[in-house]
Amino acid sequence: MIQSKEIGRARRRIEGELKVTGQAKYAGEYQVPDLLHGYVVNATITKGRITSIDETAARAVPGVMEILHHERRLALPRFDIMYSDMDAPPGSPFRPLYDAKITFSGQPVALVVADTFEAARYAAALLNFTYEEVDFDVDLRANLEKAHKPAKGLATFIKPLPPNPRGDFSAAYADAEVRFEGEFHHASQHHNPLELFASTTVYEGPGKLTIYDKTQGTNNSQIYIANLFGLRFKDVRVIAPFVGGSFGSGLRPQYQLVMSVMAALTLKRNVRVTMDRSQMFTFGHRPETVQQTRFGATSDGELTAINHTAISETSSFEEYNEVVVNWGNMLYPAKNALLDYKIVPLDLYTPMDMRAPGGSTGMMAIETTIDQLADQLKMDPLEFRLRNYAERDVSADKPFSSKELRECYRQGAERFGWSDRHQEPRTNRRGNRLVGHGMSTGIWDVIALPGNASAKFTKKGRLIVKSAVTDNGQGTNTVMTQIAADQLGLPLEAVTFKYGKSKHPLSPVQGGSYTTGVIGSAVKLACLAVKNKLFKLAQIMDGFPLGDALPEDVDFIGGEIVLKQDPSVRIPLKDVIAFNRGKAVKASKSNIPNVFKLKQYTRAAHSAAFVEVEVDEQLGVVNVTRAVTAVAAGAIMNPQTARSQILGGMIWGISMALREETLLDTKLGKYVNTDLGEYHIPVHADIHELDVIFVEEKDEIINEIGAKGIGEIGLVSMAPAIVNAVYNATGKLVKVFPIKLGDLI
Ligand code: MOS
Repeated sequence: MIQSKEIGRARRRIEGELKVTGQAKYAGEYQVPDLLHGYVVNATITKGRITSIDETAARAVPGVMEILHHERRLALPRFDIMYSDMDAPPGSPFRPLYDAKITFSGQPVALVVADTFEAARYAAALLNFTYEEVDFDVDLRANLEKAHKPAKGLATFIKPLPPNPRGDFSAAYADAEVRFEGEFHHASQHHNPLELFASTTVYEGPGKLTIYDKTQGTNNSQIYIANLFGLRFKDVRVIAPFVGGSFGSGLRPQYQLVMSVMAALTLKRNVRVTMDRSQMFTFGHRPETVQQTRFGATSDGELTAINHTAISETSSFEEYNEVVVNWGNMLYPAKNALLDYKIVPLDLYTPMDMRAPGGSTGMMAIETTIDQLADQLKMDPLEFRLRNYAERDVSADKPFSSKELRECYRQGAERFGWSDRHQEPRTNRRGNRLVGHGMSTGIWDVIALPGNASAKFTKKGRLIVKSAVTDNGQGTNTVMTQIAADQLGLPLEAVTFKYGKSKHPLSPVQGGSYTTGVIGSAVKLACLAVKNKLFKLAQIMDGFPLGDALPEDVDFIGGEIVLKQDPSVRIPLKDVIAFNRGKAVKASKSNIPNVFKLKQYTRAAHSAAFVEVEVDEQLGVVNVTRAVTAVAAGAIMNPQTARSQILGGMIWGISMALREETLLDTKLGKYVNTDLGEYHIPVHADIHELDVIFVEEKDEIINEIGAKGIGEIGLVSMAPAIVNAVYNATGKLVKVFPIKLGDLI
């Protein structure tokens, strides 16, 4: 029996002190000898080609060592998916400095390398490009008729295209007694983690590199760079122990990595390239999307017809897709469903997964549509959802591996005080402010992927666990340490999790809310293998003090093997290692998902958000005064880091509903608010009472540790709950997000 001491216990992040005291080093902070600095030059046109480059003034700046551009660069393979990364959609991945073609505004076109950052930046400003511009199109809404279904590939395997139509939507919608039809729109959003993208490449000799990279996947950057520059995998070491947030922006290697490596290989020197804040707006982003919903129900509240269409942007060179429309029929078992998802190629960079890609935006349309039907039925929106609760996923005709959403609704509503809600909009006031209460459901996939870990118990009595996975700040290090500690019954202090290095056992990119389940399972398996080896060694020790005990007769507690029936009979693990002639006991394990078993179930985490808003009637200002999110995500490894994850998601939900958008000037083909002054996100003054509940949920199907993951589920339900609360306060349904002051005046 495993003594569950650490799993489920609230623990602060192990590396937290290093972070708050500034000792944690990020990719752009490593002090390496004789470091050169690169500064990226970005194209000022949106589409066309470079006709000439005048380097004279830039070369004359003291300290300038090299200027790389398409006419002066190392060989790069052609655009080929074989030379791509783990999160690449189908298409031809962008190669910085490849040729004279410009395919999006802000495209990196040169790297100036100098002995100081300041010299590089100054010289970059003096580099003179001439361009030939051609017409471009970045306007999604003007090009909806160009929409097509995305190509199938690895991306559509992990993020499936909509299921086939079910029943007869048109007939059912025509027959429905209550109908709602709406068109929804949101602009692009850029991830903007606080840490800027940076790579410090250390030139270790011909073909050998150590790279400190800002990334969500050390192996991803390693394999990508090795393939791109024809280097051996083992000669490219990628290190990313600390990541200052990423939210999906680090799922793909960004151009600063390619450019710092190219400069290092060209000059045989150590080179750092760091993006500035405005350059953080020159790569992947959440795609602008137009959605249409048509839902129909009977007069007693049975949802009978669901039609949900989404059209999103992609680039001219890759077909990015996300799951926007699939969720509605997973949550609500309408017999007639027609779901459609298409993309429009535009002259922008390829969109990229951004926290709960597709789900967080799709649910804004689905869950506000659900509330509008409830409003027409004069039915409490929670009651309407319960009336249409899916006990089974009818869209895939599969059972759920587990689903405690009902309990999320019940506990969330109770904590929030949902029964005090006014059903009729505009009937609840506090002074000059209208008060509204809204709710929403959340859902997010449990993705299963292979992942690896190794474990070793040393003669000093320490358990060392390794995986190449990164910790993007959310607590992966802490949680993996907890999982490992429990397997051998050790205190947290006796365990070290080594991570964030490409030389460790292979890990997929940290993302999709799957990392705890995927790597946590591998950690568990590796530690259990070490435990079994230790026990087998103990069994052959001279005068085995545990008699003829079998594995099930003992516990591992506090560094000892203890006989369950008589806890005074015990062997210190150190003695077992001494018996092993002082040699550490090691094991490596792969977590390989049982695809055959998994595919028989729909596997999803759920949430329910309950929100109160106050809307100033004269000014239109919306304030989220309090919110409760209840989450069912299987086993929770660490309630403290988990709570922080959900709080972060809830705050992002406030951002999606009320603040965040990248404004695109369709005439110039450029994003125009490319700094944190103009790209609005919530500040402390916007955040009030936020409460998180984890409901009990056991799932023995999904993975070894029963953890569904919590990175995204806290975001999905929050924004639609706010939109619904604003409707409840004002009687106005806003369908263009984020909600602006003018929408409510
Ligand atoms: Mo997440 S959008 O998979 O980093």
